[in-house]
Amino acid sequence: MPVITCIQDLRRLYKRRVPKMFYDYCESGSWTEQTFRENSSDFADIHLRQRVAVDLSDRSTASQMIGQDVAMPVALAPIGMAGMQCADGEIKAARAAEKFGVPSTLSTMSICSLEDVAEATTKPFWFQLYVMRDQDFVRDIIQRARDVKCSALVLTLDLQILGQRHKDLKNGLSAPPKPTFTNIINLATKWRWGLGMLGTRRRSFGNIVGHAKGVSDISSLMEWTSEQFYLHLDWKTVAQIKEMWGGPLILKGINDAQDAKMAVSIGADAIIVSNHGGRQLDGALSSIRTLSAIVDAVGDKIELHLDSGIRSGQDVLKALALGATGTYIGRAYLYGLGAMGEFGVRTALEIIQKELDLTMALCGHRDIKTVDRDILLLPPGFEINR
Ligand SMILES: Cc1cc2nc3c(=O)[nH]c(=O)nc-3n(C[C@H](O)[C@H](O)[C@H](O)COP(=O)(O)O)c2cc1C
Repeated sequence: MPVITCIQDLRRLYKRRVPKMFYDYCESGSWTEQTFRENSSDFADIHLRQRVAVDLSDRSTASQMIGQDVAMPVALAPIGMAGMQCADGEIKAARAAEKFGVPSTLSTMSICSLEDVAEATTKPFWFQLYVMRDQDFVRDIIQRARDVKCSALVLTLDLQILGQRHKDLKNGLSAPPKPTFTNIINLATKWRWGLGMLGTRRRSFGNIVGHAKGVSDISSLMEWTSEQFYLHLDWKTVAQIKEMWGGPLILKGINDAQDAKMAVSIGADAIIVSNHGGRQLDGALSSIRTLSAIVDAVGDKIELHLDSGIRSGQDVLKALALGATGTYIGRAYLYGLGAMGEFGVRTALEIIQKELDLTMALCGHRDIKTVDRDILLLPPGFEINR
């Protein structure tokens, strides 16, 4: 077993253990991947102020996200097809998050279903919704999320049309992979992944197959998803979904102060400043650069969360210092999941928490809730104000 000390170690192990098609699916952005790259490089451009001679006993990373206690303000982001990165991936991720004391978010496009994850966990998790054209399906899945006691609905707003990721097209991405010559050769080298997949019955989209009208197998599913994303999604639809759900609502994919104001007027509980990890609008600003303008516009009116580009506890701290009260990791935990299943997700969370705690301390703070932008040194022109 290699010594794992950082998220990039998990990524390297993940790359060795998971079929290329699914590694590429995770590790890519749309078109030129400019936004995907800048999501991380912009974090690296922010420096930290080192402080000394501060009592560093009794430190805490504990906080709250939408009123729920969290061991640190870091949730697991919704990831489509996580159950293809590792057998029963969504169950393993949710278990790791529950034991660690942070929220996990199940994607509409998950392999394990809402009911699968609820059965395997003991505390409420969050559910991420993509709005589909089939209104019965939308009503039904919201009811299913309520039935299994999900404690927040995360409504994704930045994917009513799909950004193009070149590698997915070239690899012929599908769940499960098609038995082409290239796939078979590659799968033959991923015996650990293959054994896991042989040992589970969950190999397709669990929230959809058997629930959406006319979708009973893979071929009908592909047809259904390709035409199902709801192109007419607008703020009126958001308000309708809010009413239909009736519980805590988090709007995901806000990257502009104007849209943040709309989210406030709708009465959402929180927004996630996010560009979908650089997978949608290539050329969009990184989330961390957008954050300040959104804080200025609505920071005192709604809870602000952030994702896209977080690969360390230092990145989490920078986002909190700039005004977010919660963050999400996507790829950072997916690397762990693909590398080592539930233990890998736990390892990713431990790494992030250790880095968060240590950096907070070296910046002169003992409580994550007291950290503010005073700890940051921003390069000139970093913040965009429109
Ligand atoms: C492989 C992959 C699948 C994703 N699937 C979904 C999804 O089903 N629903 C969603 O709202 N976001 C999805 N996202 C976006 C994440 O929720 C999150 O916004 C993003 O991963 C954050 O960026 P990061 O990976 O750099 O942390 C996905 C991201 C990745 C990498």
